[in-house]
This record gives sequence, C-alpha cells and structure tokens, in this order.
Amino acid sequence: AALVQGLGVVVGEEEEEEAVLTGFATPDVLLHQPLAIYRAHLSRTLGRLVGCGLEQAYDAIQPASSAGNGDLDFVLPKLKLPDGTKLQDLAADVVKKFPRPHPLFLPPFKDGVHVRFFLSPESLTRILIPYILDRRGKYGKKALVEFSSPNLGQDFRTDHLRSTILGAFVANMYEAMGWHVVRINYLGDWGKQIGLLGLGWIKYGSDDVLAKHADPFRYIHGIAARIDAEGEGQGAATAAAADGCDDDDDGSDTDMFAERDATFKRLEDGEAQAVELWEKMRDISIAYYASTYARLGVAFDDYSGESLVCRNPEALARVEAVLRAEGIAEQRGDGSWVVDFAKHSPAAARLGVAVVRARDGTTTYFLRDVATVLDRLEDYSFDKMVYVVGEQDAHFRQVFETARLLGQGDVAGRLHHLSFTRGPAQWGGDARLLGDILDRCEEYVRRAAASTWPDDVPAHLRRTAVAGQVAISSLVVHELNIRNRSHTIGLDVELLTATDGETGPALQLAYARLRQTLSQLKAAAAAAAAKDPATGTSTGAAADYSSLWDAPWIELLRLLARFPNVATAAFDSLEPETILSYLFLVVDELSCCLDVVDDDESGETEEDAARQSVARARLYQATRQVLENGMRLLNITPAAR
Ligand code: ARG
Repeated sequence: AALVQGLGVVVGEEEEEEAVLTGFATPDVLLHQPLAIYRAHLSRTLGRLVGCGLEQAYDAIQPASSAGNGDLDFVLPKLKLPDGTKLQDLAADVVKKFPRPHPLFLPPFKDGVHVRFFLSPESLTRILIPYILDRRGKYGKKALVEFSSPNLGQDFRTDHLRSTILGAFVANMYEAMGWHVVRINYLGDWGKQIGLLGLGWIKYGSDDVLAKHADPFRYIHGIAARIDAEGEGQGAATAAAADGCDDDDDGSDTDMFAERDATFKRLEDGEAQAVELWEKMRDISIAYYASTYARLGVAFDDYSGESLVCRNPEALARVEAVLRAEGIAEQRGDGSWVVDFAKHSPAAARLGVAVVRARDGTTTYFLRDVATVLDRLEDYSFDKMVYVVGEQDAHFRQVFETARLLGQGDVAGRLHHLSFTRGPAQWGGDARLLGDILDRCEEYVRRAAASTWPDDVPAHLRRTAVAGQVAISSLVVHELNIRNRSHTIGLDVELLTATDGETGPALQLAYARLRQTLSQLKAAAAAAAAKDPATGTSTGAAADYSSLWDAPWIELLRLLARFPNVATAAFDSLEPETILSYLFLVVDELSCCLDVVDDDESGETEEDAARQSVARARLYQATRQVLENGMRLLNITPAAR
C-alpha cells in the first residue's frame, strides 16, 4: 500500500492512480511484481494515446523478452484493432506523443509494430531498491501450494487426507526456505457430480431440517450419499470421480443421468435458484472444513475451487478462444472439443487426447485446471505452484503441456505435481468425513494410552486433551513416514499408537521427557544457586562443556549439526521422510543421553556437578530447539502439558 501511495505521489494523481492500479491487476500482483506496477501505469497512458480501453492496453503490454530490448514491450497487434489500421504508423505516433519527461519511463522507441520502453533510472532507484529491501528473501519467491481439495458432497478419501498432511508439510517447507506461500484448497465444487448433489437435495433435502440440524455438513453429506447410492444402481453415480475426472462425457443416458445433467446445466446457466442452493452447500462445506482442518493445524488462504473459473465465463472464454485460434483444440464430429497432443509435438504423443468441452457443451476438469493456471497467474503471479494430488499424473502432464502450448513455456516450468499413490479409498475402512477420521484416531490413541502404553509414559500425555494432540501427531507421522510415496498404505492402528519405533507417540514422548529433564535441571541449578554463600549476587555455575566431549553427548551434537542439511535435502526432494527419520535419530541419541546414570565420582565437588548440569541443560535446550523446528516443518505441534 505504501508503494502504491508512493507512486501516486510520483505521478501526482493519487486517486485515479489507485483506481487504475486495482482495475485489472490485483493488488497482490502489484505488490509482488514491480513490473506490474509500471505496466498498470503505462496502460493508462497508452490507452489514451491509441484510444483503446485500459484493459486492452494492459493486455498488449508484456515484459520484454530479452535484455537491451527495453523493459516493457507494447505489442500493437495484440490490441486487435480494426483491420486496416496501420500499426507501423500508430507505433510511430505513440513514440511521438508519449509524454516526456515521464516520471516512470525514458522516451520510448519504435521497433516495427512494437514500442519499447525502458524504466527510468530515477524511478528504478527510488522504487525498486526499497521494494527489494522490503521483501528481502521473499523477493521473487512466491509459491502456491494446492492441497487437500476434496469434492463437494463426496467422501473425504484417504488421498485427500494424505494430500492435506503432505501439502501442509510442503507449504511449511517453502515458508521455512523464505518463500511467500499461499495455501489453496481447490474444492471440487463444479461439474456433473454437483448436478447429482443438487438432484439429491431436490429429492430429499429440507431447509427446515437443515436449519435445525446440529451438523449441517453431515446432513448434506448424507443426502449426497443417498442419491449417489441410488445413482450407482442406474450407472449415473460419479464412479469416475475417484479419478478426479468426474465429468468427461460419459455418453450414457439413463433418466437419472439426464436429470443430473439438467440440474448441473441450470447451475452452469446461472439460474438463480440453482446458484443459491449451490452457494448454500458450498458455504456449509467450507465452514465444516475450515474448523476441521484447524484440528490438524492446517489453514487455507483460499478455498477457490473449480467453480472459480467456471463462474467467470470470460476467464474460460479467453482460454478457449486461444486454444481454438491457435489450433491447439479442435472440434470432433460429436461436437466435443479436444486437444490431441500427438498433433502438437511427437514428444507429447503419449499424452493422448484431453477433452476441453464435452459434447453437450459442459466444461471439463481438464479445461478448468488449464484456465485456473492462467487465472492464478493473474491473481498471484506465482514463481512456483505445487499440486499435491494423489495420482492423476496423466491429467497434470496434459495440463502442463497445454500451458506450454499456450505459449506459457516459462509458466509450465513453474508447475510441479507432487504425486503419491492412493491407499484404500476410505480410512480405517469406513470413515467418510475428515472429522470422523480425526475422531477415530483420537479414540485409538486414547484406548492405547489406557491399555498398551507402558507405565512410564508421563501422566499428562494420557490426559484427554493432550491425547488429542498426540493423536493428531500420530496421524501425521503415520501418513508421512512412508519410505517411498508410491507405497500403498492403509491404516495400521498398531503403527499409529505405539510408543516405540517411528511413531507420533514416540516422538511426543521423547519431547515430553526432554522437557521434563530440562525443568529438573533448571530447578536443580536454582537450588544450587540459592545455596551459594551469600554474597547476594549469585551468578550460578558456569557450564563445563568438556563434560560433553564424550559419547553419547558429543554424538547428539554431531546430529544437531546436520539439521540444516537435512532440511535442505527435504526441501529439494519434498520428502518428509527425510526429516522424520532424522528426528528419530535425534530421539534415539537423546534417550541414550537421558539414560546415563551418573555414578558418584569420588573427588567431584558439588560445584563440578553443577557446572556439568549447566552444560547438559544447554545441550538439551539446543536439542529441544531442533526437535521443535523439525516438528514444525512436518506440521506437528509439540504436545503441551
Ligand atoms: N478434487 C479432486 C479430487 O478429489 C482433486 C483436485 C486436484 N487438483 C487439481 N488442480 N486438479 O480428485
């Protein structure tokens, strides 16, 4: 905001400035890209000079492709002016009439049908230096992490769960590496399955029941499950939804299919009633998810799902227009639009064919993802986007390749699909909602705490509230600790709840023991200080670090030295297991230290013992820091007392 204001002062038309700036480039982009600010200003001046709309001018300006060619490039053919317009003359005219001196630009020069602009040195020094220094490590490092992304009215599957836990880790990792991170939940809130949900509501839903229901989300989910089961009988259910590709033309035409499609069509056409119902279901779902994710310590910045681009027909139309104009998409005999990758590059031939629009004219999962890439680019201007999605590899390859075909080669390079193999569809056999999974997990941990956990587990870890926290970390460790993401896993209650091995309870237990030892050492030090001969100014004992020069302490320190390298390796590979297994090495070495029984060495004074304790306390403090740092990256909250 300060920057925008600063620019207002530079150009001297503050109010108009703000309006221009926020008119078509979102504040987010402006604040993230200095060039976007210049571009927004330039489009106003150029719009006036060539007599076109601001937005049209904005679209015709792009960052220069190579150094020496100016910083911004005004591409006149992109203005789509009426045929017969002499672009060369127009370019010359722009150069002649461009105001000079200009606070932001040097006088432009003509290059065929381009007009090229250099940013003025005066503005660069004034704007860019503070801009970069303000952002420091975050300059040029914006990552979008898209994860979880369940579907409206459908079960929260195990792959959604793993995506949630893995995605939280990825987002934390980027943040720790100094990136600005946006967490996005791409809800499956559009497509034919939404038609089925609407149909279910029309058949079985009641506003009265919903208003009084203690758990509105469960009520909706129940209705969805009922209509889904009914549809399954008729082949209209969203079986294919499990692949995420719920809505490619399935070519069947039972009654229920027709009704489902008609209901969805009403929504796509923007019929008020249909939209109202859809909004209601969406709001209820988001409220439920937001509060349930909070139990996992996960919060999203953005819940814009598949509907976002679909409810903005312009965004879709723009992408489709280019797909058609450039011959990337073609129409088939049945009326559907497809991208046949074999026709565009032999290397991409194995990608097969992607459907852009189904034969009945409805949008597809594929089209929505392609349009969303461009939309997010405008909204966020990201440097990296990570999709944390189980399987769907072919789908993402198609989306990324299409971004490349659309001339967004540099963008395609910023897209990354973090894939993993899906386990069984439902967690623990039959938990269908995220909240149920978490409840179940707490129940398992509480049960184990009361029965199988050994006696020396501190009492506070067994208490209900804390057991809840332990349960969440158990789930996280269980989901992340897979040597290889392509491993299929289901729920293993033993692995979830055990207090030994690489499990959540083992980690929390070690952490609790460490804290306990630390407070004992502190108490002892305080007592020793109190016993000091009364000079009144007790400084406490100095640390005797030489007492740590042997195993196991020195081995623990060696491990702690490695943490930053482990974190970097985990960032490079996005493998949480790297951090997890490291933390368990620390836990093992730590317990060797804590297990040492000090025998009374003859000749050791109380003073010596105190100095050794101080050294150990410092070591354990450092260990605690490393454990906490590692746990935070994995999105595990150290259990509080
Ligand atoms: N909602 C989809 C599913 O449940 C996952 C969405 C993945 N993200 C994406 N950009 N396509 O399978």
